[in-house]
Amino acid sequence: MKVAIVGSKGLLGSALAVVCRKAGMGTIELAREQLDITQPLQVRERLPAVHWLINCAAFSDIDGAEKQRAKAFAINNEGARALSVSCQRRGIRLMHISCGSVFSGLKATPYTEMDEPNPPNTHGLSKLAGEKSVRAEGGKVLIVRLPVLFGNREGRWPAELLTAAREGRFPLKVPADEIVAPAYSRHVAEGLVRLLSLDVAGIVHVGAAGRCTWIEFAQALVARMSPGGEVVGVPSADFYGRVARPAHTVLDSQRFRQWTGHALPGWREGLEAWLNDAGDGLARKNA
Ligand SMILES: NC(=O)c1ccc[n+]([C@@H]2O[C@H](COP(=O)([O-])OP(=O)(O)OC[C@H]3O[C@@H](n4cnc5c(N)ncnc54)[C@H](OP(=O)(O)O)[C@@H]3O)[C@@H](O)[C@H]2O)c1
Repeated sequence: MKVAIVGSKGLLGSALAVVCRKAGMGTIELAREQLDITQPLQVRERLPAVHWLINCAAFSDIDGAEKQRAKAFAINNEGARALSVSCQRRGIRLMHISCGSVFSGLKATPYTEMDEPNPPNTHGLSKLAGEKSVRAEGGKVLIVRLPVLFGNREGRWPAELLTAAREGRFPLKVPADEIVAPAYSRHVAEGLVRLLSLDVAGIVHVGAAGRCTWIEFAQALVARMSPGGEVVGVPSADFYGRVARPAHTVLDSQRFRQWTGHALPGWREGLEAWLNDAGDGLARKNA
């Protein structure tokens, strides 16, 4: 099977490229330099002949999206739509990556694919618009919603926790009032590869098992990296600033489990795997 990964230098795209290669797939990595999805001519002319195209390209700066609304929509919505049009024209299956932050975060139980999205911020609105646009083109598109990810992307929350713990910058401050189910980028990539062999379309949630607060996550990381280091929870509003985040982003992955017969490992196993991988180059650093 041949796959093309758009946005291949990002956190997910880079993990996916490694996992696809390991799975023996013909893997074409398209970083922004090779394919800028906001350039319609490039999208029309540069898609390689593959079975699947996985769109990992995104404007993922949640605070930045409020200030650069047009850019967020150009990438997360119009760029996604352009890919969908070209994929359909070329007979390429599209896997479009989206996120749990299309939901308001007000629900107390995990979000299913049947729940109504209602994003609390511009980033979520642009991602939701992208979901609608890729489906509107009528092709056999698979939209995969993911929870918050961690892996080797420096300077990015929550990967920066690892750097801070390594450097002994205690106390580690984390948002106290979010319920999350963070997933390791390699585990998610392995889950996505399982979907490629199925004849499925529509929306599917691919989330890690379990749930936690960022305090629990950071404490588990510190216990492994620097036992005794202090973790302090602060209100999300103080941690992130003014842009609202959903307070609860746990995804129900029952559909994924039914389709694949596989469950993603929980956040503790993900954390352990990340810390083990971090040294061996599998979860490689981004240039
Ligand atoms: N990270 C998370 O916690 C998380 C959670 C849920 C869902 N997701 C979803 O997962 C997908 C991948 O996210 P990620 O965390 O891997 O994001 P990321 O690390 O920010 O990577 C996004 C990639 O997209 C590229 N890109 C930006 N604009 C582009 C354009 N116009 N044309 C082509 N490529 C462009 C970026 O290139 P440059 O590096 O050159 O800017 C970057 O390599 C996204 O759909 C995101 O919404 C992520």
